[in-house]
Amino acid sequence: MQRPLLQLAPLLLLLFTAAPITSAAPRTPPKPPARVMTSCYMCHSTHGDDPRFGYIPRLAHQSESYIVEQLKAFRDGSRSDPPGEMYMWPVSQALSNRDIDLVADWYASQPPPPPQPAGPLTQAGSRIFHDGILKQDVPACMSCHGPEAAGNGIFPRLAGQNVEYLIEQLRFFKSGVRHDKNADIMHSIAIHLTDHEMREVAEYLTTLH
Ligand code: HEC
Ligand code: HEC
Repeated sequence: MQRPLLQLAPLLLLLFTAAPITSAAPRTPPKPPARVMTSCYMCHSTHGDDPRFGYIPRLAHQSESYIVEQLKAFRDGSRSDPPGEMYMWPVSQALSNRDIDLVADWYASQPPPPPQPAGPLTQAGSRIFHDGILKQDVPACMSCHGPEAAGNGIFPRLAGQNVEYLIEQLRFFKSGVRHDKNADIMHSIAIHLTDHEMREVAEYLTTLH
């Protein structure tokens, strides 16, 4: 293992030192918008990949229009589940539409969060995600969230999300306490899921990159 690596080292060094000279426009990494550094980072982290608690969602690589929709739903009070009301209502009320566009663009363009290791429930969760549960009227999650759970438009990315956050939201949809604009779709699905099935599918989703 060591020899080929050693032989590669000078080549890699050359590549790195050559990069600024050969590339026409050397790129500096974009800076996070001010709002991220004065507020969001405290709970969601600057790059959205390392939140402080499992109940706080990872925002890295999330669908941009989904982030915009959710921030507006917190701001106008239509996403009113208890942690949303407690934490995100005050935060979102301070945001203009321009702020919302800037922070959404920032988090959507960050690299996907690192996947979590598989556990004993992962396989059962994978079946729910890909096939649904026919006898309980549960459709395959991937039909809306995409085959890799990468999300798109109003359909959020679920890959690499925190297990506890995912389970909590499924419970909120089921009880109807999360009832913002597009939540009805998830209500009609979550009412057919047991707590155990929610955990299975959440444990699978967190392993995806
Ligand atoms: C004090 C902690 C805190 C701060 C500061 C904070 N958030 Fe949140 N955020 C949360 C919590 C907790 C939730 C989960 C709310 C729920 O369960 O409904 C959340 C949810 C969200 C969601 C919904 C994500 C999803 O997958 O549905 C978005 C988008 C979001 N926050 C963006 C932001 C942005 C942008 C900022 C900065 C302007 C910010 N948050 C600042 C705690 C915080
Ligand atoms: C018919 C389309 C559809 C299907 C099928 C579907 N979803 Fe969703 N899902 C949505 C939409 C739309 C939203 C956004 C809801 C909102 O804006 O409140 C969502 C939101 C979610 C969220 C909240 C994510 C967040 O960041 O807050 C979770 C968790 C979720 N879905 C899990 C699942 C699981 C698990 C399945 C399969 C059992 C599933 N979904 C099947 C359309 C769908």
